[in-house]
Amino acid sequence: QMMGQLLGMREKEKELATYFQIEHCIIVSGDSEEQRKVMEELGHATSESLDFLLPSGDNIIAVMGGTTMAKVADQMTKALSNDRHLIFVPARGGIGEAVNIQANTISSQMAENTGGENRVLYVPEQVSEETYKPLLQEPAVFNTLKMVTKAKCVLHSIGDAKLMAERRGMSEEALALIKEQAAVGEAFGYFFNKAGEVVYKIPRIGLQLKDLAKIPCVLAIAGGRSKATAIEAYMKNAPSQTWLITDEGAANQILKGV
Ligand code: G3H
Repeated sequence: QMMGQLLGMREKEKELATYFQIEHCIIVSGDSEEQRKVMEELGHATSESLDFLLPSGDNIIAVMGGTTMAKVADQMTKALSNDRHLIFVPARGGIGEAVNIQANTISSQMAENTGGENRVLYVPEQVSEETYKPLLQEPAVFNTLKMVTKAKCVLHSIGDAKLMAERRGMSEEALALIKEQAAVGEAFGYFFNKAGEVVYKIPRIGLQLKDLAKIPCVLAIAGGRSKATAIEAYMKNAPSQTWLITDEGAANQILKGV
């Protein structure tokens, strides 16, 4: 029976990867919204995927923020650094989020857990262009941003548009726009409608959506039934090299509508 279940899951993974036209999909059992253990499994699956995908030698890994990414960091161990030198870089600066789920914090946690290196990127987001343009000339900022573009891999999550906008304390104006444009999903500070079109973007420096095309491996980690719509929206136009690491809660909900 175990074998049957496993085969069933492999079938679903294939179905989901085909539907989104992405390279690969991993579905862990259960729903991460209901059980903490499932969230840990998402983290495990991420580490295993990195171990499979990353070549030996130097590897820059660009990381985003959020609670999922924080859990992913928790599951990383020194084993990932066996024949590699890992350098973690935040793919964005601060973002009006709690410190423990900012990309800077997660990047440093990943470095600590794997025995790798870490870089920081402290640039306020949602500031005017005149404010941040000169900051880009600062060597500390410039060098980190350059590393982001050379990343072998980017790790990111996907969130519900409204939840993310509220959590990040976005302006009333932005909130209204997101509602009006029917945004349902968010990733990298971009908001997507059901068709997967970008309808709003948080003005910020760091990794941009178009930069993803040049990054050999892109891991999107997001689970939970309530994230199904958000995941589907973002995944419609996700780069083809993407690996989606999700759970049954989200996957079953998405596949229901396929
Ligand atoms: O971009 C998406 C968000 O970072 C997801 O946040 O992992 O806390 O749900 P979360």
